[in-house]
Amino acid sequence: MPTPPTASGPPTLLRGFKDILPAEIPYYRAVEDKTRETAALYGYREIRPPILERSEIFRRVIGEATDIVEKEMYAFPDRDGAEVTLRPEATAGILRSVLEHDLHREGGRSLRLFSLGPMFRRERPQKGRFRQFHQLDFEALGDDGPSLDAEVISLLARLMKSLGLSGLTLRLNSLGCPLCRPLYRERLSAYLAGEREGLCPDCRRRLESNPLRVLDCKNPLCGKLTAGAPKPMDFLCPECRSHHESLLGLLKAPDLDLIEDPRLVRGLDYYRRTAFELHAGGLGSQNAVAGGGRYDGLSEHLGGPPLPGIGFAAGIERLVMLLRDQGEREAPGPAFYLAPLGPEASGPLFRLGEELRSRGFSAVRGEEGQSLKSHLKRADKIKAKKAVLLGPDELREGRVTVKDLSRGTQSPLSPEEFFKELENPPTRERGGNPN
Ligand code: HAM
Repeated sequence: MPTPPTASGPPTLLRGFKDILPAEIPYYRAVEDKTRETAALYGYREIRPPILERSEIFRRVIGEATDIVEKEMYAFPDRDGAEVTLRPEATAGILRSVLEHDLHREGGRSLRLFSLGPMFRRERPQKGRFRQFHQLDFEALGDDGPSLDAEVISLLARLMKSLGLSGLTLRLNSLGCPLCRPLYRERLSAYLAGEREGLCPDCRRRLESNPLRVLDCKNPLCGKLTAGAPKPMDFLCPECRSHHESLLGLLKAPDLDLIEDPRLVRGLDYYRRTAFELHAGGLGSQNAVAGGGRYDGLSEHLGGPPLPGIGFAAGIERLVMLLRDQGEREAPGPAFYLAPLGPEASGPLFRLGEELRSRGFSAVRGEEGQSLKSHLKRADKIKAKKAVLLGPDELREGRVTVKDLSRGTQSPLSPEEFFKELENPPTRERGGNPN
């Protein structure tokens, strides 16, 4: 492989990739924590499939005629010649893992799994759209009844509420099943053939390979031309219709801003019946925060047993953008900042730091050779709750000076008094870790 030309200056990020810097971590943490809490409320267990899988699994699950498989996968031959891909989504790997380990036999009709982690799609980068992004993903397998759809959608709504996100709209559609979709597809193709000349080149191609995707085209002209296209809802078989109506009945919850959207088709091919997306204002054109749906038949398609399922994934970067718009979230500072005021203080402060950590208190040691003023400045900057000052006077008198940084008070304490106060603080003061 040719070596890229060495540019001057330090190396930089790949286009479409992003560093998650310490200031953003509290938002990611909040999303991950609430995901785990919500998963526990509904009995979901965590699963962590690998990031790299055989390419074939994504082609078979997501569909050959999708944008993801056609042009967005990071797919490459491994050194042994195997075709491998950095996962563009989580459902394929989770289903592969379930089938490979027979997890469905353990879980019976209620196999509920969730996962958190990075995904990779080589899309055109823009606001809210990255080439490496993170998803939280929920999958419920083994039950084809509409009450499971309602439960999964309610879980999504509850998760958003727990994050304090409001003003989100759930768009819902039914895409039918192999019984009713072929007739719909035929009618849609016939309609679209009449508009062929006006459609964008991508849609003209989709006309042959995946006509449903034409409905999802972001090109305003295509949108205009397909405004009067037949809707999947009008072609549903009695079973699909009854499933959809039962779901609508169950979802009449006051918390949910629900819109039936006959044009919602989703970008992955595995959906049957229920398909949904959660949209937010304020994210620009990439305003889908989450998307999902039912994928009955997918397990059989992969050579597995009948295993109906429904799930969704939410984009964590997009959730973080919404959370940041709501206000600052700061990581808690350490309980103690340890200030060495002279070279002899280093050893004792090192030992004091270790003792504090053994007792469960976070402590950050300042650098030697700083003035008292710069130590206090630094303690303030990292939001430490207290500073422990140790200089020649303290060492001579066998004590430490403890400064409460929010109250501005300070007291000289012997090591015994210091540790006694730690065990019985006036109010509990156990410190969080700085990250
Ligand atoms: P998806 O709609 O392709 O569905 O992705 C879900 C969410 O991931 C999107 O709503 C968006 O928030 C986020 N997302 C997707 N692409 C990007 C990107 N390039 N940059 C930032 N965020 C992005 C799925 O992935 C399905 N596996 C969901 C599912 C699970 N269906 C059933 N089970």
